[in-house]
Formats: sequence, structure tokens, C-alpha cells
Amino acid sequence: MAFTGQLAVITGGGSGVGQTWARQLAADGVIVALLDVNTEGMEATASGFETIHTFEVDITDSGAVSAVFSTIETTLGPVDRVVNAAAIMPFGRLVDEDPRVTNKVMSVNYGGLVNVATAALPPMLERGYGDFISFSSMTGIIPGLLMGAYASSKAAVQHYSEILYHENRDSGLRFCCVCPPAVATPLWRQAEATVVPKLPARGETLTPDQVIAEVERCLEGGKPFAFPGKQTKFGVWMRRLLPGLVWKASHEAEGF
Ligand SMILES: NC(=O)c1ccc[n+]([C@@H]2O[C@H](COP(=O)([O-])OP(=O)(O)OC[C@H]3O[C@@H](n4cnc5c(N)ncnc54)[C@H](O)[C@@H]3O)[C@@H](O)[C@H]2O)c1
Repeated sequence: MAFTGQLAVITGGGSGVGQTWARQLAADGVIVALLDVNTEGMEATASGFETIHTFEVDITDSGAVSAVFSTIETTLGPVDRVVNAAAIMPFGRLVDEDPRVTNKVMSVNYGGLVNVATAALPPMLERGYGDFISFSSMTGIIPGLLMGAYASSKAAVQHYSEILYHENRDSGLRFCCVCPPAVATPLWRQAEATVVPKLPARGETLTPDQVIAEVERCLEGGKPFAFPGKQTKFGVWMRRLLPGLVWKASHEAEGF
């Protein structure tokens, strides 16, 4: 593992990739602070580890996020790594979607990252040490039908993360924005409760471990973007070189 610090904060640590990563880090002796609205999930993550601490925080609340980072720095110690895994993923045709839902997706997936970055990074930058990991998605690069709100939020995460990296590239911190394809986690239940777009569901599905391993590799290699999975790298090139073909596949898959 590329991490040599003592304390990691993980948003969305009550489920999926955040949960797996928290338990991996704790097993390696790292103190972990989870920020999530999912208290049951956080309890499950922390089970068996006295060094995993749970904080019920909605990351869309900038005041609460700032307060919790002050509490963590005061009570647990300096934050060495931040993993921004919290997100929501309802799908649907944009014009049919309640605008409150579309805006909430942006507020959690992008706004939450903004709140965490501005709360966590100033002391980390002052110390000149630490990792800052954000979660975009393949859909942030390759937009497709029925995933407008989520894909837009993940495109915003990508631009934000790229600029954040360049603004702080001489700071001593390591930045990585990961763009996974489908990952086998409970996030897909939200798609199943709304609409499941056929095209991404046909592609490769990774495990949380595979995604985490690719991020650790990118951090070690100083790469600001991680694209886990073979199809992901191919998809990135397809989108750049043949965007019309990518849209054709999306229209054919969804049937409109
Ligand atoms: N699962 C996939 O197919 C997939 C693919 C590409 C990218 N990603 C990204 O990977 C990251 C991890 O996703 P996952 O699959 O582990 O999801 P998940 O649903 O398993 O876990 C997400 C966690 O975020 C928490 N959360 C949601 N809203 C919150 C809020 N307002 N405040 C605090 N916590 C909140 C949830 O309670 C949940 O515990 C996400 O950013 C997701 O967009 C996932």
C-alpha cells in the first residue's frame, strides 16, 4: 500500500468502496474516521476495529463538514489522507427527473467534495503531506442516456480535481481522481430503484479491491487520474477519438 500516514478520513465509509478501504487501512494499523449519513453502515465498517471512528455527517452541510474536520484534527490527530467516496446515483431521463433530485445529485457528489476539500486541505497543505482522493466515474468522461444528473456531477468532480491537483502540485500532497466503471457495491440499488441504463450494465464490473489497488498504484506513481479496468482505458480513447460511435452505442442499447 502506498500510504505511510497515521490517520485517514473516508466519506461514504458506511458502504461499498469506502467501507472496504476503511477496513483495509484499519487492518494496516491506520486510524480511520468515517463520515456518512448511514449510521448502520458505519457501525458495520467499524465492527472489530477500535481504531475506526464514526461521525454522522451530511457532506452537503459545509458548516458540519468544517466542524467535524476540526474535531478530528483536535481529538484524533493530523489528517494524512482523505478519501471522498460518498455519492448518490439515482438515474432517469433528465426531462422526467424532479429537478430537486437532479440538483441533489450535484450537491452531494460535487458540492460534498467542495465542502470536504475546503475543510480538509488547508492544514494538510500547511504540513505539506497527505493524500487527497476524489471519486469521479467513467460516466464523468463518457456521458450516456439516462444518467444525466450523475454523469454531470462526476464531470464536475473531474474538472475540480484536475484543477485542485495543478493548483497544488508543488505542495507535497498527492492527489488522485479515480474514474471507475461499474463496481459491485450497494450504489447500484439506487439505479435499480429508478432506471438501470443498459450500456454500463453490459460492461465490466470491478470489485472495490480492484479500484482501491489501482488508486494506490496511481498515488505511488504520482498520477493524478486512475482509470481502473481494461474497458475503462479503451472507453476513454473511444470518447476522445470517436464520440459519435459512443453515442450510437448508447442510443442502440437504450432503444431511443
Ligand atoms: N459502484 C459503482 O458502480 C461506481 C462506479 C463509478 C464510480 N463510483 C463512485 O465510487 C464512490 C463510492 O461508491 P460506492 O459504490 O461505494 O457507493 P455506496 O452507495 O456503496 O456508498 C456510498 C456511501 O455514501 C454515503 N452518502 C450518500 N450521501 C451522503 C451524504 N450526503 N453525506 C454523507 N454520506 C453520504 C451513503 O450513505 C453510502 O454509505 C462514489 O463516489 C461513486 O460515485 C461508483
